[in-house]
Amino acid sequence: MSYDFVLLGATGFTGGLTAAHLSTHAPAGGRWAIAGRDRAKLETVASRLADSGGSAPAIEVVDVTDAAALRKVAESTKVLATTVGPYAQHGAPVVAACAEAGTAYCDLTGEPEFVDRMWLEHHETAERTGARLVHACGFDSIPHDIGVLHTVRQLPSDVPITVRGYVQASADVSAGTYHSALGAFAQFRSSQTAAKERRRREGRPAGRRVRGLSQRPGRGESGTGWALPLPTLDPQVVLRSARALPSYGPDFSYGHYVQFTRLPVAVGAAIGVGALVAGAQVPPVRKALLRVKTAGEGPSEAKRARSWFRVRFEAEADGRRLVTEAAGGDPGYTETARMLGESTLALAYDDLPDTAGQVTTAVAMGDALLARLPYFRTL
Ligand SMILES: NC(=O)c1ccc[n+]([C@@H]2O[C@H](COP(=O)([O-])OP(=O)(O)OC[C@H]3O[C@@H](n4cnc5c(N)ncnc54)[C@H](OP(=O)(O)O)[C@@H]3O)[C@@H](O)[C@H]2O)c1
Repeated sequence: MSYDFVLLGATGFTGGLTAAHLSTHAPAGGRWAIAGRDRAKLETVASRLADSGGSAPAIEVVDVTDAAALRKVAESTKVLATTVGPYAQHGAPVVAACAEAGTAYCDLTGEPEFVDRMWLEHHETAERTGARLVHACGFDSIPHDIGVLHTVRQLPSDVPITVRGYVQASADVSAGTYHSALGAFAQFRSSQTAAKERRRREGRPAGRRVRGLSQRPGRGESGTGWALPLPTLDPQVVLRSARALPSYGPDFSYGHYVQFTRLPVAVGAAIGVGALVAGAQVPPVRKALLRVKTAGEGPSEAKRARSWFRVRFEAEADGRRLVTEAAGGDPGYTETARMLGESTLALAYDDLPDTAGQVTTAVAMGDALLARLPYFRTL
């Protein structure tokens, strides 16, 4: 095998930041490559990494529309990390190549339909080949998935557990994220179909109950401010981890909310997201909305330096109350690059549980990420 890990998409905004993280955090002697469709752009990224004193990667030229070339790259590495998005548009062939080659895969998707479709199409193959397919290794969904794991670890595993996660963040989005979100809003109907088919085929844990909490707006963390339900990929990932891990107890429930201090801000945010979802359903409006940001663009270093996130987890277990948090800097890019970079390194070098198929971050590498990421604490 030529490489310990390959990063596909290194010429993009988030891929460039992830490449920088990997080049300064990979172990000495680590064998790695950056991959993408444009050799000249990849050479620019590689020489920027070498100039800033990090380890310089090899280069692999591959377009995700070329299945044979992708398969060759997947066979050449232990781990393939990809930031080529929107994943609904570009991601499936990369997952297919890794599932077939038995290669560990990680990405930054926050698109629920993509994750469900990949489970339907590649989970069984990956279970057979031994590939670990780990989606959502960025702000979607590591702070939430690993934050809940960190919380549950401190509670008894033989009583019902309820956890509520309250998310607050101040940050800007890149073109890639904005385009992915609009794509996901536009696919609302087919997304429901994929989720339903997955529910029909996927087993449930015997003798244990795992549920999502009510999706109603209400008072926020510790009864302060306002909380709106956040129907992103994150609560789905948390509940999947709970189904897979008996340590979440016999009856586990989770609610996921965005926290606002003032009611008018909460109402304004709900109206803003509603308008984007409605606009994304109408093709000419969607086209105009897509033109607002150009691929490759993202928030400046100064803007990222001022950005932050905080997720507060309030847990109850048999009368015992526990509050924990996951907090860090710019969620969308600086921290996401660190999260994907550390997930890649964990998959390449750490001693991980023996898993295969589509698995969540908590299942694939929960302990490794708790040790590698500095976000989690008990209050
Ligand atoms: N979940 C999270 O927390 C989170 C956070 C940040 C980003 N993301 C996701 O990450 C993805 C990337 O975002 P971004 O802002 O980095 O986007 P971006 O700057 O537009 O980068 C896209 C990358 O994909 C590459 N690409 C496009 N088509 C390709 C093809 N046919 N073959 C090979 N490579 C191809 C581009 O290569 P060229 O340079 O050759 O065009 C570029 O490297 C998005 O889906 C975004 O939603 C998620």
